[in-house]
Amino acid sequence: MRLVILDKYDEASEWAGKYVRNRILEFNPGPEKYFTLGLPTGSTPMGMYKTLIKFVTSGELSFKYVKTFNMDEYVGLPRNHPESYHSFMWNNFFKHIDIVPENANLLDGNAPDLDLECKNFEQKILDAGGIELFIGGIGPDGHIAFNEPGSSLVSRTRVKTLAQDTIIANSRFFGGDISKVPTMALTVGVGTVMDAREVMIIITGAHKSFALYKAIEEGISHMWTVSAFQQHPRTIFVCDEDATLELRVKTVKYFKGLMYVHNKLVEDGKDYQEVKRQKKK
Ligand code: GLP
Repeated sequence: MRLVILDKYDEASEWAGKYVRNRILEFNPGPEKYFTLGLPTGSTPMGMYKTLIKFVTSGELSFKYVKTFNMDEYVGLPRNHPESYHSFMWNNFFKHIDIVPENANLLDGNAPDLDLECKNFEQKILDAGGIELFIGGIGPDGHIAFNEPGSSLVSRTRVKTLAQDTIIANSRFFGGDISKVPTMALTVGVGTVMDAREVMIIITGAHKSFALYKAIEEGISHMWTVSAFQQHPRTIFVCDEDATLELRVKTVKYFKGLMYVHNKLVEDGKDYQEVKRQKKK
């Protein structure tokens, strides 16, 4: 596990954006070889999306040969509702980058057969060769995607009933009205994310510090589904100082001491490519 600790939200977002950029550049995708990326919604990844848009606008990065798979979607909310995850992704990310629309895969929360929709989504991921990098956020109760406390740690894409905590947390997007928040969602499973070659989870803010502590300093538990990633061979947690408030001093010191290594992973795009070229020589 890597734990990358940046001062503030903005720095954490920029680090995450640069990491994604470098992973895509390093992969060198093309018509025969697409890069597959798992994506989250929420307020946390907004800064990362802005960073990625900046790279696409400056010509440093392209999503032409990238396929994306979103983690989750509400059930029953019209696709064009401003708070659907479909709208979120198009308004905040996809419409600003050069992704081919057919390559942006989102679950359909209005599909006539929801179970079939989930099954097909898993198949689409398989057909695309699996996910190279799955990016996630978490709720303050440690859920990843919509894998609420108590979810199976080997779960696959399915219909989930939302926990009351999640409904309350997400009511801020529905004018603070709990009754307007959908009560069900489609979500990838913990197992679906675990199958990715690499996982990056962004955790920021003091309100998520207890969840970060449960994720990395306590045992694996289905009550804190993000803790499952302790068993993933390549997980990066990217967080800000506030999110580390409940961690031990020695944990924070150890990982901060590794920042010089972690920062090499996000070195500037062109220089980074040059470094790679030199290494190959
Ligand atoms: C929802 C989503 C999660 C997301 C979480 C946190 O529950 N299903 O995927 O990680 O919200 O959202 P935020 O980043 O706004 O705190």
